[in-house]
Amino acid sequence: MAVRYELIKTCKQTGARLGKLHTPHGTIDTPVFMPVGTQATVKTMSPEELKAIGAGIILSNTYHLFLRPGHEIVREAGGLHGFMNWDRAVLTDSGGFQVFSLSNLRKITEEGVSFRSHLNGEKLFIGPEEATQIQNALGADIFMAFDECAPYPAEYDYVKQSMERTSRWAERCLKAHARPNEQALFGIVQGGMYKDLREQSAKDLVSMDFPGYAIGGLSVGEPFPLMYEILEHTVPLLPTGKPRYLMGVGSPDALIEGAMRGIDMFDCVLPTRIARNGTCMTSQGRLVIRNAKYARDFGPLDPHCECYTCKNYTRAYIRHLVKAEETFGIRLTTYHNLHFLVNLMKEVRQAIAEDRLGDFRDQFFAQYGLSED
Ligand code: GUN
Ligand code: ZN
Repeated sequence: MAVRYELIKTCKQTGARLGKLHTPHGTIDTPVFMPVGTQATVKTMSPEELKAIGAGIILSNTYHLFLRPGHEIVREAGGLHGFMNWDRAVLTDSGGFQVFSLSNLRKITEEGVSFRSHLNGEKLFIGPEEATQIQNALGADIFMAFDECAPYPAEYDYVKQSMERTSRWAERCLKAHARPNEQALFGIVQGGMYKDLREQSAKDLVSMDFPGYAIGGLSVGEPFPLMYEILEHTVPLLPTGKPRYLMGVGSPDALIEGAMRGIDMFDCVLPTRIARNGTCMTSQGRLVIRNAKYARDFGPLDPHCECYTCKNYTRAYIRHLVKAEETFGIRLTTYHNLHFLVNLMKEVRQAIAEDRLGDFRDQFFAQYGLSED
């Protein structure tokens, strides 16, 4: 088994889990936030910088790397680890999500998804076997089953058929997986906002005995309280001895709420994406650095942050760089935002260790303000 989850303890105040995820490229303390490196790079960040902020695992995308440069090139380079010079853990998403959001003229059948590349219009196909073969070539420590993430809102019958197909695809991914000792394949629970479908999906996947489980199909535009309700219903259906990964969630409030409901892993483009338009996550809430009120502000982005950006640069300088479209500006905001979330999860783990995550949540929200997207 390539990946093993070790449960250290649960928070007496909330039920959140403190754990360790043992992978072939190091052990990761959980709950963890995984920075997203869609195209085999976390935009603007070098591997050395990712290490400096404390990242132990990053995510990359099958869809993008299949289109460019092609998984065979990545395989020849020694997999993603060799290709991008990253010796800590990597997780790849299966493409089941990006093919729906990015590609053109897609058509979904029992076999898989036919689509046209968003880069050059080329006609391509990815099914569960292809997604597995591509991810075996990419060589991540953890890779995801090929799934369909139903949109929100969606009719019950559509979500049911889509979820059932996702279960059949998961079985096909398991069969096609050629490197089970080197790479862990995680199943993805779907079922939209319908609790009975979440139950059926979890039951199907748990019976296939994956080394870890993701909860997909959330954070797709539904209200946060509904996402939390579905999480509360779904997480207890998963085995306690395996890691649970909530896909596509990365706002500070949802990370804390997710951890409180038993989630161990998260990923999201949010911190890196908003950094590139100059929005920073701080202990006082979001800060839009382009705002005129920062023109002569010679303090750090976040007075409570100890990151490289906050130790060395002022709001006024970063505002100038971002407005002048100097690339160093978005390097600094990206660095800070990732440090902020990695550090937030460190504080979450400390709070779990001390059975006070509920108190931590209340204190955090009093400062940060509620409901991000
Ligand atoms: N990223 C965010 N949500 C999802 C999902 O439902 N499936 C996959 N494969 N990736 C995701
Ligand atoms: Zn900072």
